[in-house]
Amino acid sequence: MAERQQIRAIKGVRDILPLESRAWSRVERAAQDVFGTFGFAEIRLPIFEQTELFARSVGADTDIVGKEMYTFTDRDEASISLRPEATASVVRAYIEHGMHTLPGDVKLYYMGPMFRRERPQKGRYRQFYQIGAEVLGQSDAPGIDAELIEMLFAFFGRVGLEGLTLDLNSIGCKECRSKYVEVLRAKLLYVKDKLGADSQRRIETNPLRVLDSKAPDEQAIIETLPRIADHLCEACKTHFAEVRRQLDLRGITYNLNWRLVRGLDYYMRTTFEIIAPGLGSQNAVCGGGRYDGLVELLGGLPTKGIGFAIGEDRLMLSLEAAAKLAAEPSVDAFIVWMGAATQATAIKVAQRLRGAGIKVELPPEEFKFKKALGLADKLGARYAILIGENEIAAGKFTLKRLADAVQTSVTEVELLETLRAN
Ligand code: HAM
Repeated sequence: MAERQQIRAIKGVRDILPLESRAWSRVERAAQDVFGTFGFAEIRLPIFEQTELFARSVGADTDIVGKEMYTFTDRDEASISLRPEATASVVRAYIEHGMHTLPGDVKLYYMGPMFRRERPQKGRYRQFYQIGAEVLGQSDAPGIDAELIEMLFAFFGRVGLEGLTLDLNSIGCKECRSKYVEVLRAKLLYVKDKLGADSQRRIETNPLRVLDSKAPDEQAIIETLPRIADHLCEACKTHFAEVRRQLDLRGITYNLNWRLVRGLDYYMRTTFEIIAPGLGSQNAVCGGGRYDGLVELLGGLPTKGIGFAIGEDRLMLSLEAAAKLAAEPSVDAFIVWMGAATQATAIKVAQRLRGAGIKVELPPEEFKFKKALGLADKLGARYAILIGENEIAAGKFTLKRLADAVQTSVTEVELLETLRAN
């Protein structure tokens, strides 16, 4: 017989088990509720796309596209990739379905798994989950940027995540940024010898990414580099000042971070990240920014866009660290039926209670009384409903509150009322 070796999950991916998944669902419902109040509707997107979509939007030279995508050749020889992010797919769908004809700004949100072949560590996985939102349309009014960030904070408030910091920057437009990049590159070449190999390489490929460096001995040098804020064109400067005023109007405080450049090529002007406590080095729980021009780049009409994605895994880790994940009982009532003749009644009672939204556990076969109560206890059930032949004869049930063992005799209507009320 062949050896039966245990098969384990792939490195960097994990299972979200029921104790956790219940909390995940709650967070996802909160996103649906809060985003709904801001006029966003859900879009469900494919998990794989043509590789070209990500190469063109996220950028062929980025780490994400260059090193981290799961890419394979389909039978018809098209190159396909598991999505590393979803903004590109939203924009593709926007163009494909002619959504520019819809009235007002198109506001969409999505949630689901993304895939990046990164080195796994706490808060960094190869399959991870994002909750994201995008606004696409003709307007780039700074009020859109600010309201999107306001929505994020409304959501984080709803799920109880505190102690967040918003890092904000403007990386300008194509014109002013390319001029700035040249100034930056010139200065970087001047200090090249003092930089590590990674940063030295980036002077050629993407000098902005040097600003991202976490290497301790590069920090003092980076602080002396020219800053984008001093090189923004008039239009970008005005836009950024107005984004800040719009945030002030909403009572949102932020930290100006001139080194926040983000690792995807489609950004322009407003960029932001939200840092959460309790996460260690992978502490960005959300990243986003403006990407006017991306729709055109992917073959659509000139369109403005802005969006964000929350890292759901990190959000859950941060909530966990803050002990904000109150366990919800998974069983409201455990039905203990005794005697074959009582099973039919037990099934009907279970049906009615479940129909009323109550979580019911019904043993599929007759259990000894002690075993049934013991299991009810272990499952954390709040009540046991005892159904024996006496109860059936009396037309009443015994309801036992498991926390203090108080027992009452109740009719079916009273049973429903008590369980609903508690
Ligand atoms: P991103 O910064 O690449 O942006 O990812 C957003 C968030 O996803 C991060 O802040 C982080 O919380 C989470 N995340 C990223 N990689 C991992 C990973 N390997 N493991 C766990 N969590 C991770 C985007 O993806 C853009 N599409 C956001 C956006 C939407 N910009 C405009 N619209």
